[in-house]
Amino acid sequence: MFPSPFPSEVAFRCFSEEQYPTIELHPEEEQYLGPRTVEIRKKHFRLGRAAAHQAILDLTGKPAGPILTGKRREPIWPADLVGTISHSGAFACAAVAYKSFAVGIGYDIEFKKDTINQEISRLICHDDETAWVNSGSTVDEVDANLRTIFCAKESIFKAFYPIERVELAFKDVKLEWDQEQSAFRGRLLRNASQQHPEGHLFSVPCESSHGYVRSSLLLKRTLP
Ligand SMILES: CC(C)(COP(=O)(O)OP(=O)(O)OC[C@H]1O[C@@H](n2cnc3c(N)ncnc32)[C@H](O)[C@@H]1OP(=O)(O)O)[C@@H](O)C(=O)NCCC(=O)NCCS
Repeated sequence: MFPSPFPSEVAFRCFSEEQYPTIELHPEEEQYLGPRTVEIRKKHFRLGRAAAHQAILDLTGKPAGPILTGKRREPIWPADLVGTISHSGAFACAAVAYKSFAVGIGYDIEFKKDTINQEISRLICHDDETAWVNSGSTVDEVDANLRTIFCAKESIFKAFYPIERVELAFKDVKLEWDQEQSAFRGRLLRNASQQHPEGHLFSVPCESSHGYVRSSLLLKRTLP
């Protein structure tokens, strides 16, 4: 299973489809899945909620009530927590932390076998990001670079959105790959929240193994 990219103050759990038959959600969570929801979506939603509940239990020592969904599909966490969920292929992962430690967390996982259309490069990348994507020396490397930058931007969206409901677009951030750190250095090109104005810098570690790319962003609480 995937290792946590976060420090010990963040509880991180992954669930695989092998655990699927044992999962039971709160009835209110099940209600979110209407009768026409396709099976793969049901599986991902349930695995993600199961990972989130286990992470909350690890962090707080207590089971949580239902984790419902907000208007922009964001999970509604218990009042004193922040968190993130992602699912792809056979896995779903979730991370949670106390609000006293973090103001936002983002995590994203992408299964490499899911096709990624190189055309989306134009939509999600600035010119220098495209240059980095295309710097791969093989078609597979170019594909992996694009998937990695996409994955990083999804984590960024998930970490910032719940703070002040700012919907960052793909080109509202600029990323530069740091090979030594295996992370993107990120810079906001617009305000994402009062604490995270245009120009704010952050790091998005990325890993790739077992056919999955993962990215994470931890926005720690800073002293007022
Ligand atoms: C929201 C979004 C990032 C989800 O990513 P995804 O690749 O579709 O799917 P993932 O499995 O990784 O993540 C899905 C989970 O993200 C979480 N999520 C959804 N919307 C969210 C939001 N607004 N804020 C925080 N988390 C959100 C949910 O927990 C969801 O799972 P669930 O529906 O089972 O609860 C994506 O659908 C999206 O809207 N992207 C466009 C915006 C964007 O990425 N901009 C880039 C800014 S730099």
